Amino acid sequence: MMKNKIVTVFGGNGFLGRSVVQRLAQQGARVRVAVRDTDKANRLRVSGDVGQVVPLQVCLRDQQAVESVCHGAHSVINLTGRLYEKRQATFNAVHVEGAHNIAKACVKHKVQHFVHISALGADPKSRSKYAKTKALGEKKVQKAFPNVTILRPSLMFGAGDRFFGRFADLATLLPFFTLFKGGRTKFQPVYVGDVAQAVLYALQDKKTQGKIYELGGPKIYTFKDLMTLIIHYTGRQKMLIPLPSFMATLMAKVLQFMPEPLITPDQLKLLEHDNVVTQKAKGLKDLGINAAHLEAIVPTYLSCYKPHF
Ligand SMILES: NC(=O)c1ccc[n+]([C@@H]2O[C@H](COP(=O)([O-])OP(=O)(O)OC[C@H]3O[C@@H](n4cnc5c(N)ncnc54)[C@H](OP(=O)(O)O)[C@@H]3O)[C@@H](O)[C@H]2O)c1
Repeated sequence: MMKNKIVTVFGGNGFLGRSVVQRLAQQGARVRVAVRDTDKANRLRVSGDVGQVVPLQVCLRDQQAVESVCHGAHSVINLTGRLYEKRQATFNAVHVEGAHNIAKACVKHKVQHFVHISALGADPKSRSKYAKTKALGEKKVQKAFPNVTILRPSLMFGAGDRFFGRFADLATLLPFFTLFKGGRTKFQPVYVGDVAQAVLYALQDKKTQGKIYELGGPKIYTFKDLMTLIIHYTGRQKMLIPLPSFMATLMAKVLQFMPEPLITPDQLKLLEHDNVVTQKAKGLKDLGINAAHLEAIVPTYLSCYKPHF
């Protein structure tokens, strides 16, 4: 159904983007990957035939550039997002203004389907700027393009993910793992391939238009459960040390200056609330997807961290 259709993917070179672009290319779509850095996105070209997947440089603040990559597109997907702010790349600039610019471009060029990726826990009243701006972005996008399909994934896992991959890296370096907020925050991790499949499904089914879907995996885990699983899959002996809140805040205040921070003060605020699918929400099942189990996938890419590997 996607054969020869032009699909513009903003943020297509990210973790989820790579899976989405691959699936679009397999289905014969002509993919424009709208990114800040085309060099980084060039490796995506091999997902399709010669000329089928084309990276294009776009700044989300430049409305004309955003519009030019949406011109003639059958569908548009917005996967841009960030977990921490850096100079001009603020949460507001990406989650609210950037998303709004894309929605306006979709209206101008009469795009048939617009799929916007938000995040589970998006909440206009959240103390976390990440969660708050994700909610404000949803509102802006809905107002401009009421037929938008919004997907709110929980923590995503899969080869190349940040969460399991980074903690596994740390497992090789540190003798202990720290537990923020006592390790009690709940998550419902979802497989990146299932989220990518949900995006493809949403593009092809008009019934998803104007709706919000919350995408979580089959099981709920606490942060401590997840750390325990990482320790198990990497075959490392680690202590789990609950960090008092003032120490966690101090640590986050220092670590936020890392090039890719492990934890920031804003993320600590995110951990104040469980990140699980709300009971009545539409989800993966409504999109015909049977969610994959973490236990079946995470060990496949964490086993290389085992000491004897
Ligand atoms: N990963 C998760 O567990 C998770 C959970 C819930 C929701 N989400 C949401 O799902 C979406 C995809 O996540 P992901 O894990 O694939 O994230 P990712 O790997 O960090 O990719 C994010 C994409 O956004 C782009 N981006 C970031 N800042 C930008 C800016 N200032 N201007 C333009 N583009 C910018 C990145 O481009 P560059 O490569 O140029 O930086 C990248 O292409 C995001 O909206 C994210 O918030 C993710």
